[in-house]
Amino acid sequence: MRLTLNGASREVRAGADASLLDVLRDGFGLRSMKDGCAPEGSCGACTVMVDGRAVVSCAQPASRFEGREVLTVEGLDAVTRTAWADAFVTAGASQCGYCSPGIVMKAEALLRRSPRPSRDEIARALAGNLCRCTGYTKILDAVELAALLMGRQEART
Ligand code: FES
Ligand code: FES
Repeated sequence: MRLTLNGASREVRAGADASLLDVLRDGFGLRSMKDGCAPEGSCGACTVMVDGRAVVSCAQPASRFEGREVLTVEGLDAVTRTAWADAFVTAGASQCGYCSPGIVMKAEALLRRSPRPSRDEIARALAGNLCRCTGYTKILDAVELAALLMGRQEART
């Protein structure tokens, strides 16, 4: 199958039962997206963006993503990656870090469509992303801080 992965046209062999998560990790060797509950689709650790929307990559066959545009943490530009890292470190929003890449991609999708989200909007957007470590408050702080660091608040005013 062929898809656009992090801005480049790529081809990979995908078994009939392979999920997008399988293809990203085993086919392309990417490691940001995690398997927390595959194929349940209920923890959010495997979240990536497809055509600009956040999706859980474990719950659908890879074949469904033929020709689509997939973006993972590895494909974020350096400024954006640094902003997310700084925000998570400053807010103390990452402990074991297992959930973090999925949360970043979910939140990145949110900020792209809503550069100045309210705290409630952030909480609603992240409702499907489970974290066993942080208690979530610091994650909400981190997303608010990331929006500031990226200057997206100013960009919208
Ligand atoms: S591993 Fe995909 S939602 Fe949990
Ligand atoms: S930081 Fe450990 S699961 Fe979220």
